[in-house]
Amino acid sequence: MSFTGKRHAPPKAGAMIEALRGLGYTTASALADIIDNSIAANASQVDINFVWDQEKSRIEIIDNGNGMNALELDKAMRLGELNPLDQRDESDLGRFGMGLKTASFSQCRELTVATKKKEELNCLRWDLDVLAKSTGDGWYLLEGPSENNHDLVHSILDAQKGTLVLWEKLDRIITDRFSADDFLDLIDQVEFHLAMVFHRYLEDRSNCFDLYINKKKLKPWDPFLKGHPAKAWHSPKATRTSSGSSISVECHVLPHKDKLTNKEFESAGGSDGWTAQQGFYVYRNKRLLLAGSWLGLGKGRAWTKEESHRLARIKLDIPNTADSEWKIDIRKATARPPVVMRKWLMRLAEDTRARARRTFASRGKPARTSKGEPVVQAWKADQTSGGVRYRIDETHPAIRNVLDDAGSMLPQVKVMLRILEETIPVQRIWLDTAENKETPRTHFEGEASDEVISVLKVMFENLVTKKGFSPKAAVDKLLLTEPFQDYPQLVSSLAE
Ligand SMILES: Nc1ncnc2c1ncn2[C@@H]1O[C@H](COP(=O)(O)OP(=O)(O)OP(=O)(O)O)[C@@H](O)[C@H]1O
Ligand SMILES: [Mg+2]
Repeated sequence: MSFTGKRHAPPKAGAMIEALRGLGYTTASALADIIDNSIAANASQVDINFVWDQEKSRIEIIDNGNGMNALELDKAMRLGELNPLDQRDESDLGRFGMGLKTASFSQCRELTVATKKKEELNCLRWDLDVLAKSTGDGWYLLEGPSENNHDLVHSILDAQKGTLVLWEKLDRIITDRFSADDFLDLIDQVEFHLAMVFHRYLEDRSNCFDLYINKKKLKPWDPFLKGHPAKAWHSPKATRTSSGSSISVECHVLPHKDKLTNKEFESAGGSDGWTAQQGFYVYRNKRLLLAGSWLGLGKGRAWTKEESHRLARIKLDIPNTADSEWKIDIRKATARPPVVMRKWLMRLAEDTRARARRTFASRGKPARTSKGEPVVQAWKADQTSGGVRYRIDETHPAIRNVLDDAGSMLPQVKVMLRILEETIPVQRIWLDTAENKETPRTHFEGEASDEVISVLKVMFENLVTKKGFSPKAAVDKLLLTEPFQDYPQLVSSLAE
């Protein structure tokens, strides 16, 4: 055997494309890749039509962007025509020169692209069944639409300019027993995913971008509940530069469940639920790549997604010049922070996680009144070297009264409190608070006012008769005592 010669070794088209079909796109992420191209081509509108016709079902994506001339379309349809290392326009959402093909073939066996630019209409088509039958390396790109699609291609491109991407033979979608109902469910999933991935384009009215699915206009889904009055916290934007690319981060703590309506809570949980949607939201040119991930950060081992951090969401913006540093993949679905950024990101995430945890644990109720006065709480969490311990606060008036009057019973009362502290059903409360279950009731929630008043009266009497408080002073004290700070009107009525 010679060790110096060289051979021409092109891949076989059919086998190569079959292999590329398994990159791991979902229908929704594949469509997002097609829409990226429309946005890069300055489209202000993209229409996606799901047309149900059993195994002849199809998906059309039509944009009103710049379109392509014959040469541009020819290049667009080829694999490996663009070099991922080339510099891209600042607003270009592409990188690999592959997305149109890999995303489409992940869902269908026949891809038709028809496009119009300067009155010129061009159409090319890949059919994997034709490639499978071809001999040699067989990269046969078909010219013009298939017989069934002549009318469609011409009618759709009556517009001045734009591009139609048509997926037919949807073998990866219309599998055995897939029904019209499944198709409708798929449309819902796609709708949610696209409303999330492109939310910043859909929100920004200055650049007028609209997405329609079967003629229904998509509303953006904002992971950060921007402008919500109960938003717990958000940081100013922080920026770092690495290898000439500027990265910016904005940390958010979302409102506690108690401060959201059921509908808001449901919607803000996103498609995967609150716990799954915590973490970093990585955007590349305003397009969301990753929706909720701790990016492998963490001390020692990577942080996992925990219930207690579910209110933490961090917006991270990277430009397309940072693609290789952040290891962006063809699907635009992963990103890994470069080593030089990890410490900084971890610091920001740690702070946000701690804040989110506090908001989550507080049931959304501040330990201060709306005027900022501290409220005496019945329970406190003591941080010890061995972990957190929950203690009953003896300065709480209801506890103090009993301790002061206990006399010879004092040791027994103290034992009772200690037993309560040591047996607090933390695990049980944790489980009951878990996602999709009701938060356990506290603070007399759901109780009639009479019930609250009867407890309040005992405390009020005690303060006035035994502790020598004036009625007004007793009322003032109770207004700063948990859980009565939530019932200012009932408390005030005691003095009358
Ligand atoms: N809807 C469209 N309108 C105009 N041009 C398009 C459209 N779709 C694709 N193109 C052209 O085809 C090229 C190839 O698209 P493709 O999605 O395969 O790769 P890319 O967008 O360059 O990179 P990536 O693989 O990262 O998506 C694009 O660079 C663009 O020039
Ligand atoms: Mg692309």
